[in-house]
Amino acid sequence: MQNKVKTGLNMTGAQMSPDDSERMLDAALSIKPDVKGTTKGIAEQRRLRVVESDQVGSVPIPGTAKGMMKTAINKLMGKQPEVLIDKLGERLAFERSGTRLYEALIAKAEALDGTPEAMLRDLRHFQKEEADHMQLVVEAIERLGADPTAQTPCADVTGVASMGIMQVITDPRTTLSQSLNAILMAELTDNAGWELLIELARQAGQTEIAEAFGKALKQEQHHLVTVRAWLEKDLTSQLS
Ligand SMILES: [Fe+2]
Repeated sequence: MQNKVKTGLNMTGAQMSPDDSERMLDAALSIKPDVKGTTKGIAEQRRLRVVESDQVGSVPIPGTAKGMMKTAINKLMGKQPEVLIDKLGERLAFERSGTRLYEALIAKAEALDGTPEAMLRDLRHFQKEEADHMQLVVEAIERLGADPTAQTPCADVTGVASMGIMQVITDPRTTLSQSLNAILMAELTDNAGWELLIELARQAGQTEIAEAFGKALKQEQHHLVTVRAWLEKDLTSQLS
């Protein structure tokens, strides 16, 4: 596959067939939907569902006596350990996804002609760091007496949100820059996620966890800057 965007017989735009486009607009105005309801109705249905619905899962009660103690102590101090545990679960899920995203991106970069060896080396290094970060979060969750194998609500939600990024990268038709753009979305979220988690850990009085996460944030900042630079370089080279 050629690794740059190409021109071709794309028929999706209205300019390709002005007459048909006009007829389609006329039809949209004259033919009424055969399903009753309006956008107001959809909004009302959504509102009802939100009011009726339960949440996406729950944060499990720590399964160990030590964890129960810690949770009880923090509760007495007015802290809500489940908030931090939920977000730690989210970070764990995201770092696991990140490892898999890089795995898929490495396969694509290796398959395409002309990928610089330095880029492949960095991609492999970033993948390893994502896996290390996952382990770092596992240790933090265990330190709080919680279970790192449990899927917390935020872990579930972030897994759903990452699905599109994975689809883009594993699609064999997408170019390197399209895949880099997808991983840029992940890295931007990753950076913001670590910053927030460090702040939450600090506010929950977990300073050691916050400090340990500082190193991961620095590495994530480097991922972000590098991916942005690769994307810019790839696209500007296509311009010339
Ligand atoms: Fe990253």
